Amino acid sequence: MFIFNNQVALSSHLKEIASENSSVGFVPTMGALHKGHLSLLEESMNNNGITVISIFVNPTQFNNPEDLAKYPRTLNSDVEKIKALSKEIIIYAPTVEDVYNGNTVSQNFDFDGLENQMEGKFRPGHFDGVGTIVKRLFEIVKPQKAYFGEKDFQQLQIVKKMVSKQKLPVKVIGCPIYREANGLAMSSRNERLMPSQKEHASIIYKILLEAKIKFGTKTAKEVSDWVVKKFENNKEFELEYFQIADEERLLTCIKKSKKKKYRAFIAVFVNKIRLIDTISLN
Ligand code: PAF
Repeated sequence: MFIFNNQVALSSHLKEIASENSSVGFVPTMGALHKGHLSLLEESMNNNGITVISIFVNPTQFNNPEDLAKYPRTLNSDVEKIKALSKEIIIYAPTVEDVYNGNTVSQNFDFDGLENQMEGKFRPGHFDGVGTIVKRLFEIVKPQKAYFGEKDFQQLQIVKKMVSKQKLPVKVIGCPIYREANGLAMSSRNERLMPSQKEHASIIYKILLEAKIKFGTKTAKEVSDWVVKKFENNKEFELEYFQIADEERLLTCIKKSKKKKYRAFIAVFVNKIRLIDTISLN
């Protein structure tokens, strides 16, 4: 099993094992791996000769220092989970210094407005941090394909936009959300929830499913107002946003168009732990 914490050693290993017909598949993560991450690794292994995973809690994408400090860091158990899947997977778990080389700042990106919606509104600078690290990791790993979960749908669209605007030679592939048995979207942040909170948080997906049904007959505004009311009656949760937007430009749906694909996006605090989820509506 190869684990690198240094990009020079990783690059030279990748050069050594590269061959004409072995494409590199890449799964960037911040660790605290769950089944969703493992499904991305499986998808990569099924479609590439070489699979690389990065485990790096990227400081520049956190706008909240407490969130960064409390983000779960579980490298040993992550390595065990990867090993159980395949010893062939290459792990890159760098230090901040190795990635940022003494200059831990974000580049400024223009993602054609995708960055101004939802997560971008509530987490200023977040997507500049994501763009910076993903671009940096692409330069280091040089993958042909990269796999991202659809739970962070806005992130997925932003990475696709960056790749197309900057003509990076990577195919970005979105993979389905993995859910707990109760419907809660799998997330590394779930590790911070108490078992009872985890159980109660299943309401987020239940509300999304109901919103999807309502969207068949009601306007986006009516559905959004209904969701806001649902959370007002539920003091355990603090709704940060609920937005129905088109998948391509992520703009709030004012008037439904048959030509567009819509999604509901939600961010909710459960006892200071921020959870997000999304569902396709049509
Ligand atoms: O989705 C994540 O875990 C992170 O945003 C990513 C893509 C690994 C960049 O740090």
